[in-house]
Formats: sequence, structure tokens, C-alpha cells
Amino acid sequence: MENIQVLIVDYGSQYTLVIGRTLRELGVRSAILPPDKAEHFLSQYTPKSVILSGSNWSVHNDGAPSLPGNIDITGAKYPILGLCYGMQLLAHKLGGTVDRPHGHREYGPAKVTVDNTHPLFLNVTKETDVWASHGDTVTRLPEGFKEIAVSGGIAAMTNSDNRVLGIQFHPEVVDTKEGKTMLQNFLDISNCVKDWNPTDLIKEIQDEVMNAVNASPKQNVVLGVSGGVDSTVLAALLAPVLGEKLICLAIDTGGMRSGELEELKTNVESAGVKNLVVVEASDEFIKNISTTVDAQEKRGKFRDVYKRIFEEQIAKNNAGFIVQGTLATDIIESGEAGKSALIKTHHNVGLAWEVDDLHPLRNLFKYEVRELGRALNLPSAVYERNPFPGPGLYLRIVGLPVSHEYLDIVRDADKTVTEIIKKYNLEKEISQLIVGILGIKSVGVKGDERVYGHAMAVRAVQTIDFMTAKGYYFPQEVAEEITNALTKHKEIVRVLFDMTPKPPATTEFE
Ligand code: XMP
Repeated sequence: MENIQVLIVDYGSQYTLVIGRTLRELGVRSAILPPDKAEHFLSQYTPKSVILSGSNWSVHNDGAPSLPGNIDITGAKYPILGLCYGMQLLAHKLGGTVDRPHGHREYGPAKVTVDNTHPLFLNVTKETDVWASHGDTVTRLPEGFKEIAVSGGIAAMTNSDNRVLGIQFHPEVVDTKEGKTMLQNFLDISNCVKDWNPTDLIKEIQDEVMNAVNASPKQNVVLGVSGGVDSTVLAALLAPVLGEKLICLAIDTGGMRSGELEELKTNVESAGVKNLVVVEASDEFIKNISTTVDAQEKRGKFRDVYKRIFEEQIAKNNAGFIVQGTLATDIIESGEAGKSALIKTHHNVGLAWEVDDLHPLRNLFKYEVRELGRALNLPSAVYERNPFPGPGLYLRIVGLPVSHEYLDIVRDADKTVTEIIKKYNLEKEISQLIVGILGIKSVGVKGDERVYGHAMAVRAVQTIDFMTAKGYYFPQEVAEEITNALTKHKEIVRVLFDMTPKPPATTEFE
């Protein structure tokens, strides 16, 4: 994460991802983090600049998200740009006034007059079309600030040395015709240089791994593959440089979804991998994990078996390295980045191996890995695939000891709900689907009989990078079809829909 140039603090705006994507199009690497994680990041690293995203919140509401505690808003350490809510937050914290004046709400297209002699608006036409979406607005600037754009109210602000900046509209949205120029100007103000080029990044990762391998007496590399975006992209990246030295290891843990092993084989093949080893170990996983219902203990038991199998394969293949597709987010959530709180122990982060453990994707975020997949010409089904956790369906048997039977119930339920989502063409609206069985029994009636059975929980989320997520509300018709389908199972009497955002809930139930 040391080479992240721009830190984007995410206040939950639906456009935050677009800021990251636009910067990437402009060739600059960024990290998108919510305020608390951004604070951890800033305690470890100093980026070249910071952008504060928009939000649905008003700075005056109780519970409105605030600035990371250790952020510098004087502009001394890095230039900082607040967009919409981000600008309001800056103005509010620096002693200006944020209000909801009558008649100055803007939703949608707006015309703005900019001071195009200011470095933020260089090469932008004086009267420019923008896209705005705000109820609140900055009505009085903090001391030492001046207005550099107007649209009936203050549309942009700067401090005296042009390092603390705010834009009330959304330069990241395509409807802001010259928004890209504005963001490029901000990158120039921050002295950011082009460093996001998929071809260079691929070469950099290949070189990092090959330098380590070439310096070692044991040159075989074991790479854990799940068929998902991260490990498949990593396999495709390493297959051409490692050739026969790359041994991909897929473990059938018993926690895979319906048809997943076949899909995994197809994906790994499309990545050009020569050696794929598949180890069937579901009984061992179930035996170990079924001894507890505690979420964190289950993860621990999963890791134990996972590690044992890897060690066996490392020895068998005389490997000197284990390579994994761990991402920046996995590392942050596992509490391995700086002082981040441990949310949950990811199955493959922080394990102590006898051999060298490489995580070449550790600085990347999901959307960046998807870009690499595209650049590597992988099928779009691979790089667009929704995530699925390593411990798989084990995390979806909640409050019950895992068993073959419960695994089958959640596997079938996942397949059923996935098919319904496809039928209604809702795949693109959902970032991940989670269907779990809950260890509470409740009374139902089937036919004329009382049934004392379990409940299924159905959860779909929409998210940028899984650091935060919104719960998805299924249309009523779809929810009804899901409920009917899942209650067909004789032991299921209820279906509960979970739309809780993250935070406070996490994506998975465990
Ligand atoms: P949470 O539940 O932490 O999940 O909000 C965020 C994303 O990470 C996935 N996840 C995992 N992926 N190993 C993984 O490879 C794990 O141990 C693990 N735990 C959660 C989760 O499915 C979601 O996409």
C-alpha cells in the first residue's frame, strides 16, 4: 500500500468507485477506504493527496461520518479535495457554514461558472456543464478561503495556497463534461505521476515473483486457486513466466457451491496453467469444523486443515514458495495492516509457513484486479465474477454444527436463489449473494401438520469493494418466489431477508 498516491475517503456516495476508476483512467493508483480504515492507513503511510467523497449525510445530522482523526486538513502534508459532502465537511471543520438554503438544492445537470485561472480549473471552459446532487451547501467560506466557481451558490472553494480545495458538484460523473480535466488538474496540483498501467503492473508483479524464485534453490511455486477473480488472475499472470514451476492447488473443502469445482477447472485452464492438483478433503474439513459453532473458531479450524493440506503439497512438490491472491482489503479486514481492528480472520492471511509466502496482489483492490484480468484477456466471466469466501458454505451455517446435510441445504438454496436472480436479470444489481441456514427453530405449518424447523436467511449486497456495503431490497415478486422455493424443503419453515448494511453487519453471516 506504500505506493498508493491518492487516498479516497469513502463517505458512502454511490460515486466513490467512479472517483477511483477515473483516477485509474488518468493513470494514477488510489485506495478507497472508509474513514476509520483511512485513519489506520494514514497512521502508516503518507499519500500524495487525499480526496473526500460525497455522501447522503448532512454534516449536521447525528452520526454523520467525520474526518479520519489523524488527517491533515491544513494542506501542509498533502493537497486535499472535498467533493460535495467532502467539501461541506471541510468547510464545517474549518469554521465555515453549511446550510440548506431554500432554492439552492441541485439534483442533476447544472451550469457552473468557474475561475479558469485557478489551477483546479485550468483548461476548463468558463461556463461549464456539471452534475450536482446536494441539499446542503456551503453558505459561508472558512477564513482565508475564496470562491472559485459559482452556480447560484458557492460551487467550489480554495484556500490561499491552493492545497485545500472543495467542489460542490461531482467531477467524477460523466455528465460533468470537463470533470476529468478537473481531476487531472488536482493530480497535477498534488504532483501525482502516472503509475497505473496494467501492462507495467503485470510486469512488476511477474518480476517480483521471478526475482524471489530465481534467488531460491527450490523454485517450484504452489498457488492456491479457488476459481475466483483474484487467484485466477494471479495464475494467468504467473503461468507464462513460471511455466512448469507453477503448481496450482485447488482444495475441495466441501464448502463449494454447486458446479464450482468444474467452473474452477475451466477458469484455471483459461489462465494457461499447466499443473493443477485437486485435493478432495471435505470429510477432514467437516470433521474439524463441526466441533464448534463459534464463527471465529470455525475460521481457525478451517485454516488448520487448509494449512495442513498446503504443507503436504509443498513437500510433495518440493516447492520453495507459496503464492496467494490476497488483496489489500483482505489484509485490512484481517487486522494485518497497521493497527486495523480484526474483523474476521481470512482463511489465508497471516499464516506462518515454512516456505516463503508471497502475496503479489497485496496492494491492489478488487476493481484493479478485474482490470488486470481484462488486460490478460481472460474471459469476462472470470474477471467479472462475484466474490465467494475461501471457507465457503461453512460460513453460512450459522449457530449449528456443520454437517453434510446442512451443507447440502445451503448449497441447494444458493443454487435456487442464484437461478431466480438470473431469471429476473438482477445479477448486475447485486455484488454478492449470501444464503445461510440459521440455528434457531421456529414453528411452521406444512399441509395440516405442525413443523418445528429452521429458517433460511437471504442477503444480497451492493458494494464498491466490500469495505462497506448496502443491503439490497429484492422486488416483492422476486422475494416471494425465493420464499416459496426455499420453504419447499421439509425442514425450512421461514425465510428471512437481511438488508442490513455493512457496517454494522458484515457481508457474510460469520
Ligand atoms: P465480510 O463478511 O468481511 O466479507 O464483509 C467481505 C468479502 O470477503 C469475503 N470473505 C472472505 N474471502 N476468505 C476469503 O477469501 C475469507 O475467509 C473470507 N471471509 C469473507 C466475503 O464473502 C465478502 O466478499
